[in-house]
Amino acid sequence: MNSSWVSTLDNLPRVGTVLAPTPLDPAVNLSDALGVEVWFKRDDLTGRGFGGNKVRTVEYLLGHALAEGHDCVVTGAGPQSNWAMLSALTATMAGLEPHLIYYGDPQPAAGNQLLAEISGACIRWTGEVDRTSLDPVLNKVARELIDSGRSPCVIPRGGATPLGCLGYVRGAIELTSQLVEHGIEATSIWLATGSCGTQAGLISGLTVLDADLPVIGVATSRTPTESAERVATLAAGTLALLGDRRNAPEPIVVGGFIGEGYGIPSDAGRWAAELVARTEGVFLDPVFGAKAMAALIEYARRDLIKGPLVYLVTGGAPTVLTK
Ligand SMILES: Cc1ncc(COP(=O)(O)O)c(C=O)c1O
Repeated sequence: MNSSWVSTLDNLPRVGTVLAPTPLDPAVNLSDALGVEVWFKRDDLTGRGFGGNKVRTVEYLLGHALAEGHDCVVTGAGPQSNWAMLSALTATMAGLEPHLIYYGDPQPAAGNQLLAEISGACIRWTGEVDRTSLDPVLNKVARELIDSGRSPCVIPRGGATPLGCLGYVRGAIELTSQLVEHGIEATSIWLATGSCGTQAGLISGLTVLDADLPVIGVATSRTPTESAERVATLAAGTLALLGDRRNAPEPIVVGGFIGEGYGIPSDAGRWAAELVARTEGVFLDPVFGAKAMAALIEYARRDLIKGPLVYLVTGGAPTVLTK
């Protein structure tokens, strides 16, 4: 391994939120049903809250906030956001007061919003349904906090920054060593892509490892083109942060599985989540994981993929109970 990116990864401040390694498990019954060998990387078992990919995302972001002497964090999303809840939960654990901005109007607490309240989040609402409405509010709230003598660290929606992506650089290292351990020559990794940080982190990690393993994101929130551009930008930023000159491969993002829109469960996703629950005993969330699995199933049906492949289970359990 090139020691420079390894030492950057090891030396940048990070909070140890992840219970790693998460299992890499053969999805035997699902593989039989699909006729394609599928392995589950169980990042729904990352160990805080009800698990999920964002537990990896926060590690370096909160480490940075603490190292810079901040005493609170400001971030946001929709009230059922896994990101918002998990960042609030882990911030509180790390001694940073979490401030969450939700778009829309106040809702009765349920699911992730309820868990965010239990986690100690100070919550405000933008009053506008458009999710971009919260971006200016993050800075406004940060200014108010500064005026009241606090030191806030603003983190963009989804934690999608090069620093946030480092969590999945570590995830890629963990996964590739498990693939070697199990003797699996994986053909691809499949996952749901939203704010794009998870896919960008994985791609960056595989790039520094010189591992030729395609990462296939399924667009769940933006168009495939916009998602691919964001993944590329984030991956370039992540590699720059690691001081690595290699270029990440062109991101692959599959479209056609969002259904009616971001956050709205789709029929194909519902069917896919039921299949996975009934074959593997794993619940996929309706917003991200179920739609990514619907894409994988469709590609298997059309004989467009071959195994063994890895499906990243990204968590989101609280929304299974609220949608
Ligand atoms: C359960 C779940 N899966 C997948 C994703 C997509 O990850 P990213 O936003 O890093 O693209 C998210 C994002 O919030 C998520 O909550």
